[in-house]
Amino acid sequence: MKALILSGGKGTRLRPITYTRAKQLLPLANKPVLFYAIESILAAGILDIGIIIGDTGQAIQSEIGDGSFWGSNVRITYILQKEPLGLAHAIQTAKSFLGNSAFIMYLGDNIIEENITPFVAAFEQNHDQCNCQIFLKPVSNPREFGIAEVFENSSDCTLYVKKLVEKPQHPDSNMALVGIYLFDASIFHAVDEIYPSQRGELEITDAIQWLIDHRYIVRAYKLQGYWIDTGKMEDILEANRLVLNKLQTNISENTYIDSKSQLQGNIVIQRGAEIRNSVIRGPAIIGEYAHLENTYIGPFTSVYHNVVICNSEIEHSIILEHCSIYDLPFRIENSLIGRNVKIHASSIKPRAYKFMLGDHSDLGLL
Ligand code: DAU
Repeated sequence: MKALILSGGKGTRLRPITYTRAKQLLPLANKPVLFYAIESILAAGILDIGIIIGDTGQAIQSEIGDGSFWGSNVRITYILQKEPLGLAHAIQTAKSFLGNSAFIMYLGDNIIEENITPFVAAFEQNHDQCNCQIFLKPVSNPREFGIAEVFENSSDCTLYVKKLVEKPQHPDSNMALVGIYLFDASIFHAVDEIYPSQRGELEITDAIQWLIDHRYIVRAYKLQGYWIDTGKMEDILEANRLVLNKLQTNISENTYIDSKSQLQGNIVIQRGAEIRNSVIRGPAIIGEYAHLENTYIGPFTSVYHNVVICNSEIEHSIILEHCSIYDLPFRIENSLIGRNVKIHASSIKPRAYKFMLGDHSDLGLL
């Protein structure tokens, strides 16, 4: 069994952050989203992983490397998809890496709570009885996802898929396709038989529908735990909240926390961080060599490496590396702040807001 992780695409819904960073590298609890996919695949015993990359490929390669970070037997192969022409097109692009192997396809911006290991094992053992396994989760906005209609086999309670539609205008169900799929080699016929959709992509939903129409067996499983497609800012913050919720307290040895500071709840403080006269209310994570002074960090906040925060309050937010935040009169909440951002009160007259914001920035003022 092999794995194919999709990390091409443009990430337009997360601009301006994705002008300079692949969306799959945004950190949740100070770990890139993509790492969660890799680690759940490795936990299922799959060591041969292909990663589809596009425009942001270089950054992805330098962050992930050759896989040796996870062990000497892990093999990572990068596969360049010149243009993001669809998830089924990504499978075509990866054909020589995949050979005729069964594989798991994992969208690099998806994160789930459930352990995929039993599904991978069952698919490997039974894939003569099942050509494709998809995962479903009810959503309140079915127009934004691939949507499935299923029926249950009453003898063994297995769910089979009847019909799939990509981002339907008039959805017949609210069961969304999660971005994790198990395929055998029959999918290679399917991706070669379908045509681009209205949005110009070779859709994986159309390829799976082709399998159904040609009497291949497509099963579905309703995920019990959380699933987030981290394509939008609210989703990233929600995913960060869910991941932080599982955090166990861990204070690295070479950190400095003075006696006037208070840590409440589950908190991770990473190496080299310095905390003076501050209150941190977990779950929260403070990155390597971060410096906090006279500051309040509230629940569900991830402060990444080398961030400096003084005389300020921040809650339910993600602050990326090398930011500096000083002397803010109001609390920052529900925010995603990119790398190297400076936010500070200024005493220079006239008293006015002074901005230097990138394209597509979004600012909420009091
Ligand atoms: O997240 C689940 C949804 O993912 C499913 O419900 C949909 O059926 C499925 O089509 C997909 O929809 P999205 O519109 O969210 O896909 P997106 O364009 O965001 O791409 C998902 C991931 O795949 C993302 O990490 C980028 C990568 N990708 C995308 C395309 C179109 C590629 O690597 N190559 C591509 O050509």
